Parts: sequence; C-alpha cells; structure tokens
Amino acid sequence: MTLIPELTILQPADKEAIDLPRTSEDELAVGKKKLYIESYGCQMNFADSEIVAAVMRNAGFATTSTAEEADLIFLNTCAIRENAEQKVRHRLKHLVGLKRLKPELLVGMLGCMAERLKTKLLEEEKVIDIVAGPDAYRDIPKLVEEAGSGQKAVNVFLSREETYADISPIRLNSNGVTAFVSIMRGCDNMCSFCVVPFTRGRERSRDPHSIVREAQDLFDRGYREVTLLGQNVDSYKWRDESLTTSQTEAATAGSALSTTTFADLLETVARIHPDLRIRFSTSHPKDITDDVLHTMAKYDNICKYIHLPAQSGNSRVLKIMNRTYDRPWYIDRIDRIRAILGDDCGISTDMISGFCSETEEEHQESLSLMDYVQYDYAYMFAYSERPGTLAAKKYPDDIPEEVKKRRLSEIIAKQQYYSAARNQRHIGQVLRVLIEGNSKRSDEFLSGRSDQNKLVVFPKGNLQKGQYVNVLITECSSATLRGEVV
Ligand code: SAH
Ligand code: SF4
Ligand code: F3S
Repeated sequence: MTLIPELTILQPADKEAIDLPRTSEDELAVGKKKLYIESYGCQMNFADSEIVAAVMRNAGFATTSTAEEADLIFLNTCAIRENAEQKVRHRLKHLVGLKRLKPELLVGMLGCMAERLKTKLLEEEKVIDIVAGPDAYRDIPKLVEEAGSGQKAVNVFLSREETYADISPIRLNSNGVTAFVSIMRGCDNMCSFCVVPFTRGRERSRDPHSIVREAQDLFDRGYREVTLLGQNVDSYKWRDESLTTSQTEAATAGSALSTTTFADLLETVARIHPDLRIRFSTSHPKDITDDVLHTMAKYDNICKYIHLPAQSGNSRVLKIMNRTYDRPWYIDRIDRIRAILGDDCGISTDMISGFCSETEEEHQESLSLMDYVQYDYAYMFAYSERPGTLAAKKYPDDIPEEVKKRRLSEIIAKQQYYSAARNQRHIGQVLRVLIEGNSKRSDEFLSGRSDQNKLVVFPKGNLQKGQYVNVLITECSSATLRGEVV
C-alpha cells in the first residue's frame, strides 16, 4: 500500500458543524446577477453543477434557489434513458413561460443531453440560448456573454485532460455535513447499453493532491462526510509527473511510489481525520480489488457500503452488455466482500430488465443473483435503447415493453423483500449515525445515515447535525430505520 507522496495531513481540532440552512454558499450575495441551476441524473452531474456555480461566481453571478428570480437558468441534464431526456424537455416548456415574462432571461443546457444532441437542441428547443457539454464549463462565462449579445452559443468539445481540479466548488443545496468530491471524469468501458462514454468522453483521473486538499478543506469547514465520485472509481490511477525521470526510476524500483491507485487514494483521504467519513461510488465488478476491500476494513471511517452494479445475473447477457465479467466472477467479488468486510457490509446494485434478446430463463438468473447477494438497495431500470450506443447498432431492442415492465416489477418486488429483510437485521443493534439534519417528516426528529448507508430517524433531543450518535434501532420499514439515541 503506497500513500500519496509528499503529502502532509493536518489534523485540526475537531470543529462543531456549522448550522447552515440548506442553501447555496453564496446565495446571499446582493446586487449580483442571479444564476439558477437545476441538476438531473447522477451524483456526478450534481457535483459538476457546483463547479459551474464556482466558475459563474468568478464571472459575477450569485446562485439563487428560485427560478423566477434568475437572470440565467441552467439545466444540467442527463441522457442515460429516454425518460431522463423527456423530463428535461418537459421542464423546458415551463421555461418558455418564464422567458415570456422576462425576455432578457438566458437559458443554458449543460451536461449529457447537451453533449449528446449538440446544436440539434437549438433547432428543436427555441428557448435554449446556450449549449455546453461536460468538458466546456470553464468556457461558460464566454458563452453567456455571447448569448447576452443575441447569438446562440455552443461548446460541446470533449477533452482528454479536463478535470476542473483547481476549481473549488460552491456547495449547492448543502446540508453543511456531506459533500461530493469528483475524483475522475469520463468512462472508457463501453458497456453496450450506455451513452456515458459518448457524453462524458475518455476516462481521466484527477490529481490526488487536489482531491485531498478539497476533502481537508471540507473537513475544516465542518463537513463530516465526503463521497468520492467516478463512473468507475476502481480504475482511478495517477502517475505523479512532478517527479523527474531518475526519481521515478528510483521510486519504481522501490515501491512504485509514483503511482496512486484507488486503494491508495482511499487510504490517504481516510487519514485526514477519523471523524471524516468516506464513501465512494461507483465500483465496477471487473476492477474492484481485494486491496480496496482491505483498505476499507483497515479504517473505521471508510463506510462499509459498496455500490456494485451487476446489471444482469446471466453470463450471456453480461457478455453482450460488454460488462467484461460473468456471473461466477461477480459472485466471487461478493464472496470476497463478505469474507473481508463481513455480513453487515451494505451492498447495492443497478439492474436492467429486458436487455436485447434476454430470455425468460436469463431474467430468472437476475432474480436468483438477487437471492444470492441479498442486496440492501437497488436501482432498477427497464432497458431503454440509446441512439449511437453499441447495442443500438448491433442488437435489436426486441423485448416488448410490457415484458420489460413485468420483469422489472418482479425485480422490484424481490428487492423490496430484501431491503426490508436487510433492515430488519439491524433491529436491536446500535448503529453509529452521522446526523445530516431534521427528518423530512417532522422537526421533532433528526435523520442521518449509518455506515451501511441506511437512513436512520430518531428523536431530536439536544443534538445537532454534524454530530455522530449511537442509535439503538427499534423499528424499520424497507426504506428507513428508527430508534433511540443511547
Ligand atoms: N458507471 C456506472 C453506471 C452509471 S449509469 C456503472 O458502470 O455501474 C447508472 C445506471 O443506469 C447503470 O448502472 C445502468 O443500470 C443504468 N443504465 C445505463 N444505461 C441504460 C439504458 N440504456 N437503459 C436502462 N438503464 C440504463
Ligand atoms: Fe456506462 Fe459502463 Fe461506463 Fe458505467 S462503466 S458509465 S455503465 S459505460
Ligand atoms: Fe446521466 Fe450523464 Fe450521469 S447520462 S447518469 S448525467 S454521466
């Protein structure tokens, strides 16, 4: 295990979490032009919106949480399934109304749908003034200026290098306790159903020093949990090019000091402070190593929770999905997780029903995989063909919609059973919970997450968000655990 070279980790005195209302960090700025950003899709998009807010702050814009108040509206979009795009199209209709009331309002499309559809969006949706892909966010102030002078403005170039490593994000909708930190961008995997490699470009890792600085800074400001984000965190890799050739040779001869793997990064972030909890997403079954599992076991502050999307439980389907692992390989990874991290480690998955040519028996294998693993949680989808993907080119989308839906409902029913069963295991246990704020249903209760990513609700007492508490679990549903602080 190599740590990131030349890194001093400060251990400042433990600070009380600052009791911020759920708002952006610069929302109160007066007299500035106002930007409203709405994010769709995965956590990476939400993290990107915080980069965009930072870039726009330098250009003189403050963020607002009300669209009606904005001079500039950005939709940071997702293209993963057809209904993700439909949602955005629908939202644009509402913006047409806003623009009628305020003709100088500018509307920008960011993110994956912008990247996928490019200038076509301008033809199809007249309300849009700006189109910017995920690697063009530094250019946005210029695009806004262009659009302000009446031209439509577009930048959808994908980069091999851009990681926005030097930009310090402005936390939007923040609870002041938990934050996302991007550690890489893009994806090189080419799963045949997936549009991400086309909308986010080539995979690239971010300089680990900048990642650790960001996490340290969050901790110093009262945050107590960071989630390290990437489409495939296990393929994170950084070679320290600041070392000269002779140093590199010496390092390589010694302990490959110059290469930082995901396990190394995880360990370095875990050492910032024992009260800073670490999560990460997404792990890829073909790449997750025992090294990562051992690092998780070694540090109490690395949460025992792994999102390990299977997609299907059948080896033939996995092959045409181009996932590059088969059912036995996936099961072996699960067995290793259980062996190294124990039965209480939370595991979740993504499942797709009705992928091209999937037979009834193959679908049954997805269900039997779910019986084997007993996931704590799952994100479940009916296959949605995406233009330009390998599957769209190679395999007919031949499973009827009602069959996809019926298979999906079987997958969902199975998961509901295991979510409840896995939650029931915790009744009578004491779980350590990081308080994130008031419970959604009542101000008399607080809520937070356990190590395994379970939502836990308990009476407020004199407690505050940002604190860790031990909660004795007394009740549960398939979604929530309830208990008393002990
Ligand atoms: N990088 C992650 C997945 C990111 S996309 C991984 O490899 O696991 C999130 C999830 O959306 C995928 O895991 C998959 O289950 C689902 N998904 C992606 N493309 C899809 C499509 N065309 N139809 C239905 N679901 C899809
Ligand atoms: Fe898409 Fe596969 Fe990359 Fe995940 S690993 S983003 S599913 S191509
Ligand atoms: Fe969607 Fe793009 Fe994320 S397609 S899931 S927002 S990477």
